[in-house]
Amino acid sequence: MTELEQLVGSARADFAAAPNPAELENAKARYLGKAGRVTELLKALASLPPDEKKAQGALINQAKQQVEVLLTERRESLAGAELERQLQAEALDVTLPGRRRGTGGLHPVSRTMERIEAIFGSMGFEVADGPEIETDWYSFTALNNPENHPARSMQDTFYVDLKDAEGRWLNLRPHTSPMQVRYARTHAARHAGLIAAGQAMPDIRVIAPGRTYRVDSDATHSPMFHQCEGLWIGENVSFKDLKSVFTDFLRQFFDTDDLQVRFRPSFFPFTEPSAEVDLAFGDGPLKGKWLEVAGSGQVHPNVVRNFGLDPERYIGFAFGMGPDRLAMLRYGVTDLRLFFENDLRFLSQFR
Ligand code: PHE
Repeated sequence: MTELEQLVGSARADFAAAPNPAELENAKARYLGKAGRVTELLKALASLPPDEKKAQGALINQAKQQVEVLLTERRESLAGAELERQLQAEALDVTLPGRRRGTGGLHPVSRTMERIEAIFGSMGFEVADGPEIETDWYSFTALNNPENHPARSMQDTFYVDLKDAEGRWLNLRPHTSPMQVRYARTHAARHAGLIAAGQAMPDIRVIAPGRTYRVDSDATHSPMFHQCEGLWIGENVSFKDLKSVFTDFLRQFFDTDDLQVRFRPSFFPFTEPSAEVDLAFGDGPLKGKWLEVAGSGQVHPNVVRNFGLDPERYIGFAFGMGPDRLAMLRYGVTDLRLFFENDLRFLSQFR
């Protein structure tokens, strides 16, 4: 092998060993640069006699061209590899499905609340909202439930060691019944002129849905739960109206006339007489089973007095139901806690 052939061979190996364009340019300099091997050979031609110079010059130029071709080939292959690498890195999988925005939905309890509001709304009831942090007076005393009376434990609340600016004890309301008093007093104040003139004020007809709190926790009780209070007070509102309004409501709520409603005698300090409302479906998995859905009764005269109204003139009924229970029955949910754990696998079934 001639010296020139060796030179071309070593250039081929050097170029092939260059892993990137920068190193390739370094290798190129070792052959074609100012002090490169090919350049040195061409410089050395000067000292040769003319006839040898010509023959040797042609051979060196041939080798130089070969080195240049090898260099170009390697440059192209390195550039191609770089392009390939970039394409890989920026690869798009056009078969991947797009990212969708998930469809949200109302919580099953919110849906139930809206349904309750719509049905009572259609019967002429207003919807009122009230505070979840209540005073002792609204939660109990105004509802004919005196301090230290054992009946208070029926709605065993979370007491907090806190008084408001006027020194009244605060609690997390254990039921929505305080809203009877708040709403009725506002109503009475709004119609104070009529009342003072001895004229009839418009009926109070309201529901008050919202969150309530008790020291209670198992599959059917949660320390935070929902209630919906109902109140209808007028000059001529009777227990008969309670039965028809509530039965009507339940039939609309469950979309069926095939259910029975039972008013079972009970006790609440703020109603007299009092009744638990039970329902039984005529069909379905719970067929014939009595299920308690609400407390109710004719509003006690002491409570009507606390409304700021004359109990000799105004009379009516109240009820308090559990929307969580109604949602469980409507959707066939057997554990109340599922509503408040916020597991999307559960909640997304109601979208
Ligand atoms: N507040 C009662 C309870 O939580 C329910 C009720 C409301 C009963 C209105 C009678 C009238 O148990």
